[in-house]
Amino acid sequence: MTKVAIICGTDLRQYSGLELTREVAASSAYGERSSAIFASSAFAQDVFFMARHGVQSSIAPHQINYRANIDALKSLGVTQIIAVNTVGGLHSSMAPGTWICPDQIIDYTYGREQTFFDGVNKPMKHIDFSFPFSGSLRDSLIAFADEQGLPIVKYGTYAVTQGPRLETAAEIKRLQADGAHLVGMTMMPEAVLARELDIGYCSLCLSANWGAGMEQEPLDIDAIYALVKSGFVDVVKFLSEYLKQL
Ligand code: HPA
Repeated sequence: MTKVAIICGTDLRQYSGLELTREVAASSAYGERSSAIFASSAFAQDVFFMARHGVQSSIAPHQINYRANIDALKSLGVTQIIAVNTVGGLHSSMAPGTWICPDQIIDYTYGREQTFFDGVNKPMKHIDFSFPFSGSLRDSLIAFADEQGLPIVKYGTYAVTQGPRLETAAEIKRLQADGAHLVGMTMMPEAVLARELDIGYCSLCLSANWGAGMEQEPLDIDAIYALVKSGFVDVVKFLSEYLKQL
């Protein structure tokens, strides 16, 4: 049976439509997770929601306990994760406000706990990660967006940077030269940890700004927050319609 979890940056209880009324208990051997996990009463099946940066949005990308988050969702029987991520657009098709379903990742992060298979908690093991996102989950999300007439960019290499600062203009040029189309701070190690536990994973990204230096002006952080806050109203509406028809 499919059991879906949504991992979002912020606390989605502030948005209407999801009815995140029930907190569920979940355990993990990996310490404290980012937030309480809420189950929605809006859908025929259990759908779980978690706030990656904590309900107060206080946990920096490099300080998120990704292993505890993914392990706790696994303990609830979750089989699919839809990650919601805000990003900077690096490609002309990814202007602020654009939705993107990326299909590749380049990981520039460091010092994060990257694996369950560390030879301490579980025996060391290599896994295939050629195609980091679940093809069937991506197809299903994209098909639903197409059905709804919602424009969504159906490809994209997501560069994962360490944060919490945004990039320099030179770093953005380097990411573009590497073949990245969008940049964010949280896709890794979340995606690989889900893969290690056999949880299908895909991401719905919202472009909040152009990459640093792509415009003359420095980035306006308040404008980024404002775009994310209003953009998430539509993202939540879309996800709740998607979850309803599962
Ligand atoms: N860089 C990294 N992460 C981001 C950005 C960005 O420009 N915008 C939103 N998240």
